[in-house]
Amino acid sequence: MTTDAAKGRLIAAIDVPTATAALDLASRLEGHVGMLKLGLQLFVAEGPSVIRQVREQFPELEVFLDLKLHDIPNTMRGAIRSARTLGARFITVHAGSGIAHLKACVEEAGEDLGILAVTVLTSQDEQACREAGHTRSAADLVAMRAECAREAGCAGVVCSGQELARVCEAAPDLFKVVPGIRPAGADIGDQKRVMTPAVAIGAGATHLVVGRPITTASDVALAADEIVRQIASA
Ligand code: C5P
Repeated sequence: MTTDAAKGRLIAAIDVPTATAALDLASRLEGHVGMLKLGLQLFVAEGPSVIRQVREQFPELEVFLDLKLHDIPNTMRGAIRSARTLGARFITVHAGSGIAHLKACVEEAGEDLGILAVTVLTSQDEQACREAGHTRSAADLVAMRAECAREAGCAGVVCSGQELARVCEAAPDLFKVVPGIRPAGADIGDQKRVMTPAVAIGAGATHLVVGRPITTASDVALAADEIVRQIASA
């Protein structure tokens, strides 16, 4: 894969509390990653204006708005309609609410905003799934929800690297966005089950979400370049 193609597959997770910190990281990562994942912490603190600022100041960086929305279809439609004005490339919604909810989001999103369905949170183990009333295993739930996402016309799913085989089977044409990625030899932090960039790409991931290995590096651009190199050589 070319370096440019590899860059397009790398999403840096910008888990910071202020617009200043987010814009600073964006300025240092433009040209080194394809996309920034901006999530709830930043969005709740700074509101939608920070998304517009990133898009305006760093137009080469696409934005993945990770809000993991979950509500009744009418409310989801409203949220997606508002999100369309922000210039994000992707937005996350929970897949667990079913096909009708996902379809409502897809219809409202139009062409420019891709709906990514979150299958099962990786923080949910078998016991948590049982506590939530599910009788299926987490892996079966992931596969079933990936199928729902495909049927609803979602752009892709978010899943762990360990689930890629099932997701590739259930939804071969969808984007597979995978967090929990650590370059070989890196500190895994609080992530439990991690994969290297090359292994995740080899297993079918189309996009990798990488946070701290990039954002806590002394040279964030260099850290991103090294991950791009590993993706390109996968
Ligand atoms: O710093 P790190 O690379 O662990 O960051 C991973 C990012 O992906 C974080 O923003 C985290 O919230 C997110 N994420 C995850 N596992 C999921 C879904 C999202 O780690 N299942």
